Amino acid sequence: MRVAILGGGFVGVATALFYADGGHRVTLVEPNPVRADLLASGRAPFREPGVDARLRRDVERLRLHVDRRLPLDVSFQAYVICVGTPAGPRGLDLRAVRLASTQVGRHLHHHAGRPLVFLKSTVPPGTLEEEVVPRIERASGRRADVGFHAVSNPEFLREGAALRDTFRPDRVVVGARKPSTRRRAARHFQRLRCPIVETDPRTAEFVKYAANAFLALKISYANEMARLASAVGVDVYEVMHAVGLDPRIGTQFLRAGAGFGGSCFPKDVRGLAALARRMRRPSRLAEAVLAINDSQGNYVLDLAERAVGGLEGRRVALLGLSFKPDTDDVRETRALPLYRGLRERGARVTVWDPVATANFQALVGEKIRAAPSLREAVRGADLALIQTEWRQIRSLRAADLKRWMRRAIVVDGRRTLDPEALERAGVAYFGVGWRREPRRRA
Ligand code: UGA
Repeated sequence: MRVAILGGGFVGVATALFYADGGHRVTLVEPNPVRADLLASGRAPFREPGVDARLRRDVERLRLHVDRRLPLDVSFQAYVICVGTPAGPRGLDLRAVRLASTQVGRHLHHHAGRPLVFLKSTVPPGTLEEEVVPRIERASGRRADVGFHAVSNPEFLREGAALRDTFRPDRVVVGARKPSTRRRAARHFQRLRCPIVETDPRTAEFVKYAANAFLALKISYANEMARLASAVGVDVYEVMHAVGLDPRIGTQFLRAGAGFGGSCFPKDVRGLAALARRMRRPSRLAEAVLAINDSQGNYVLDLAERAVGGLEGRRVALLGLSFKPDTDDVRETRALPLYRGLRERGARVTVWDPVATANFQALVGEKIRAAPSLREAVRGADLALIQTEWRQIRSLRAADLKRWMRRAIVVDGRRTLDPEALERAGVAYFGVGWRREPRRRA
């Protein structure tokens, strides 16, 4: 097949690798010249394990071609819309999806076959039928289900595990009006040997929102339990492990911490809450998930404040800036409210991250003090506050912390270190959901 992918971001690149791997000839359309040039040289414009090597291979084998616009002289059997849907003031911003739909429509005007058009971007339910299909019909002069076939095909990729999630997914969802289109779309994914859910477009779109809301719900649940666990003197990690062994619950995504960040959970849960309000069925659950997540930063700051007996004038090492390990992505990172809160409370903050410092600097806007190494970050500090569970932070040794810090106190926002080992070495340990809380200030 010849396949056109619109959007050279995270999802578009993963999708391009998937089709190229299946022996198809892929054109990846990325209008941004800097990103397009990078991609054409076999490098992704983001950090993702394993992606560059595959990109380079597929570009060299001529299976993958990068273009800044859809080439008019080629007929594609499939078009895949993977453009971004950032958070806008009133829900998701769908402008790029609308533009891509019109571009595909114009292209279809000259087309001989009856191709499939997939929509992979995360969108509110109803978008394929209300926004995408009418635009393609208008621009192409063709009717849906006759001159082309539209399919909703949400993605479930995690940053840092994009290749695994692309080539070994737990399930694929294809949503189309006609059962024959669903079957035709499902054939694209047969080689993955995973369950393929064939349904209507609205259901497929809803699945994505509902899945992310549930995962975010598990995290907010663990975070709420964490506060309670500390108050009654038990370790929430021990509790969640035992709770999760019930297969109806499951042990994953119950790690209490500084809250969830990233380009997906905050945006999608807000999107779901906005949709529910629009439909006059407010989602108390989605609102609560967000409220707990928003207040988690203050909870961690209070732990910090109490641990050192007031933050005014204290030297604090904020460790880990990306929204999770193995990425330089700082979108919605919990490091931002922590950094701002520390500064507002008068702390002198030094940050450390192996790869995300420049992105964080741009996010904060003001000059930040960044240490070149973990050791430099904690040297002379009154408090180490852990925000991302980077491998380097996990392997910090208790004796070193004791030696390097001015006052050896750790507040662990991701439960990365071993509390008992630290306390044996004379380091005061406090963490989200740990069984001992710092004393309340008088
Ligand atoms: C998430 C979902 O995991 C993917 O399935 C989904 O496809 C993707 O969003 C998307 O909608 O495109 P991602 O945002 O890459 O993927 O990252 P996660 O690994 O899910 O982590 C999100 C946030 O939750 C991170 O800040 C992480 O630290 C936090 N988290 C995760 C917790 O606080 N506790 C946990 O137990 C798990």
